[in-house]
Amino acid sequence: MEIYDYPKNREAFARAVKVIPGGIYGHLGPTEGCHIPASAYPFYSERAEGAYIWDLDGNKFIDHLAAYGPMIQGYADEDINKAAFEANKLGDVVTLPGTLSIDLAELLAETVNIADWSLFAKNGADVTNLAMMTARAATGRNKIVMFKGCYHGTNMWHQHEGDPGVAPGDVENNIYVEWNNIQQLKDVINANKGEIAAIIAMPYNHTVFQDNELPAPGFWQQVRKLCDDNGIVLIIDDVRAGFRLDLAGSDHYFGFEADLICFCKALANGWNVSALCGKDSLKQACSSVMYTGSYWHTAAPFAAAIANIKKLHAHPDAPGHMRQIGEGIMEGMEKVGANHGFHLKATGEPSLFYLRIADDDSFKLHQEFIAECVKRGSLLASHHNHFTNLAETQEDVDKTIEIADEALSVVASRHPEMGFTA
Ligand SMILES: Cc1ncc(COP(=O)(O)O)c(C=O)c1O
Repeated sequence: MEIYDYPKNREAFARAVKVIPGGIYGHLGPTEGCHIPASAYPFYSERAEGAYIWDLDGNKFIDHLAAYGPMIQGYADEDINKAAFEANKLGDVVTLPGTLSIDLAELLAETVNIADWSLFAKNGADVTNLAMMTARAATGRNKIVMFKGCYHGTNMWHQHEGDPGVAPGDVENNIYVEWNNIQQLKDVINANKGEIAAIIAMPYNHTVFQDNELPAPGFWQQVRKLCDDNGIVLIIDDVRAGFRLDLAGSDHYFGFEADLICFCKALANGWNVSALCGKDSLKQACSSVMYTGSYWHTAAPFAAAIANIKKLHAHPDAPGHMRQIGEGIMEGMEKVGANHGFHLKATGEPSLFYLRIADDDSFKLHQEFIAECVKRGSLLASHHNHFTNLAETQEDVDKTIEIADEALSVVASRHPEMGFTA
């Protein structure tokens, strides 16, 4: 197999670090998101189409990250881009907004189980923040319960005490509990009677740097009841999993109803729009919150979201296809791992599969494995869940496993002391 090198990418990154803090900041950078050793990281893309990206050096990758979620149909989808460009031509950022946002809110009300209304913004953090403010406005309470390790964005209250730039007051209303631990949640609610505005949670635990955990049987139904009994707003952060498990929302998929649900990534196949959807009972509270942004009424992303959701509905089984691709990769990885004597573990929902070589708690072996996959054209992340998409085929799954086979062989021969099979 060809082993990729990245001279042009490295040259561009060297330019970037001089003028951009961190070079590529945030989750698209070489450290925060992927944690791929820099020698294997391609840094920049030149173009992207379907399930593939080509980097600056012309190397082609099967992209298992779909831009960290947005590209649910695959890159450069003609139907969605056409709808967006047509809307853009008519007027994109205009003093008086167009009516596409109404069309999208109506479509979401038909699609998403709990959605009576939607308010649109740009990023996931915009809507998790609005959800929190809506819950506070509705309840007159301040405290927010979250699950340990969960990620809801980068606003001040999303951060942790001691993080650079964060004042203690920014996070003083946050309470953290362990995933799937109902007793701990009950204890926290009892200790803070009448003070908790909301519980905000991802639909299952797809935290980075750990095996992903599904809800225990009955977990969500018990959480729902605790919220009802204590006047707490239940917010589901479906920014990452939204539309991949169930077009009606991941709460629907797991058999319960959220009060508020946050969408972003897969909403418009890469066009920048996020949505907070909610029940009628919280509409007044939401409209009482002062909330806006310079580009929040931009027309093209609304048109893209409408085209994307219609295309998802028109697909014979969009979540089923993404699940099948993920199952193929999970099963294939575990099998090929076992053939080489590795405990290569795949967890979480298949359309957002998470991988880890469980033979080594330092994660170094896993990073080595991922680096060898990336250098052969399979773009995986070391410590983040992946995202399957509708452009992927069985051929991509087979190629991914073939690459993993060779990568494991390389890692095994590099560590004879561990007794793996090359
Ligand atoms: C579960 C979850 N919530 C919120 C966010 C924040 O979204 P954004 O980065 O668009 O602000 C993310 C981003 O990855 C996420 O995965």
